[in-house]
Amino acid sequence: MKIELSEEQQLLQDSIRRFASEVVAPRAKEVDETGDFPAEFFAQAAELGLAGVAIPEQYGGSGMDSVAYCLVIEEISRVCATSGVILSVNNSLVCDPLLEFGSEEQKQRFLTPLASGRKLGCFGLTEPGAGSDAGSLRTVAKRDGDDYVLNGSKVFITNGTNADLALVFATVDLEKKHKGITAFIVPADTAGYRRGGKEYKLGVNGSGTTELFFEDMRVPAGQRLGDEGEGFKIAMRTLDGGRIGIAAQAVGIAQGAFEEALAYSQEREQFGRPISKFQAIQFYLADMSTEIDAARFLTWKAAWKKDSHKKCTLEAAQAKLFASQVAQRVTDKALQIHGGYGYTREYNVERYFRDARITEIYEGTSEIQKMVIAAAVLAD
Ligand code: CAA
Repeated sequence: MKIELSEEQQLLQDSIRRFASEVVAPRAKEVDETGDFPAEFFAQAAELGLAGVAIPEQYGGSGMDSVAYCLVIEEISRVCATSGVILSVNNSLVCDPLLEFGSEEQKQRFLTPLASGRKLGCFGLTEPGAGSDAGSLRTVAKRDGDDYVLNGSKVFITNGTNADLALVFATVDLEKKHKGITAFIVPADTAGYRRGGKEYKLGVNGSGTTELFFEDMRVPAGQRLGDEGEGFKIAMRTLDGGRIGIAAQAVGIAQGAFEEALAYSQEREQFGRPISKFQAIQFYLADMSTEIDAARFLTWKAAWKKDSHKKCTLEAAQAKLFASQVAQRVTDKALQIHGGYGYTREYNVERYFRDARITEIYEGTSEIQKMVIAAAVLAD
């Protein structure tokens, strides 16, 4: 067994770390404070090939693998969690299912602009009454000739304020429960598609979270992704990959907070010496670094499994569960090490602390991850 990044992955990690430090980090505070969607960041990231990291070059992507994708999301989230989730949604929740389930025509028409970053995507699954219980969604798609007519709404849609295209999940038959759910590719300029206002949140401000409303929205049958009734499985499979991205985001947030705390502990003097000389602080740092490494390896393991084209439901849920919990603990300790200063906006740790919280909620809460893990281990 060998746990080592390839030369290509190491080069990627170095170059993204530079981009993150030089370009993304200086704007992270402003993105957090204004809550404005960083459209310029997405354009710059797209130029570096980060809109479709694991999508083949023939469809506008960078042709790398899921481990490389995790490195990208970790490095970006290490300085700006908002930017990390914007990329993660476009890569794993929109490009991935188009690659896996799209027809050749759909790939040419929709995947290529998304993977090259000329367009931005969002994932429309969650509804006001269907969050953890995604199978009970109520957006309806009624067949009418060569079209489907969609009516309903979505909530908490990351990238929603700026996305050019949404992957929308709707049911063709409410009676059939999850077996009626069907996926549609819907450009945002489709008549009947309307965005709500920007949500004001605790963290990851700037990720363009909004509601989407569909009113008699006609979607040609050619824009159905997969077969009728296949949508729930498409959503679940997509979320397997998405959860790996959120695990990588959580690792990045934890790593960023850890680095700030490490540096601060060596500068800050109390009782006549740097606080890093005190065992209480050293034990915090030891726990933080150990947990971050463990979370990172779980994340890479899940990505490696996905790259091996094996079912990664269990590994993705384990990685997301653990990494998101580590992000809470590490950002909490990082703030504690900063003392009163950490509670102010002068330092970055309070932002990391707030940003970490969502990783235990979106793309399936920690409780849902435990259900998924328990179902997998009991089935073995
Ligand atoms: N891959 C493929 N198929 C899967 C699957 C997977 N990972 N998980 C379940 N399925 C299939 C099952 O095999 C089953 O198939 P059959 O009908 O053939 O038997 C079918 O789907 C139904 O499965 P369940 O009975 O397990 O479904 P359920 O209704 O009990 O739900 C759940 C299971 C795990 C709780 C699921 O609803 C879930 O993951 N909920 C959380 C939703 C979520 O993560 N939302 C995130 C929104 S996106 C987001 O957050 C983006 C963002 O902002 C960044």
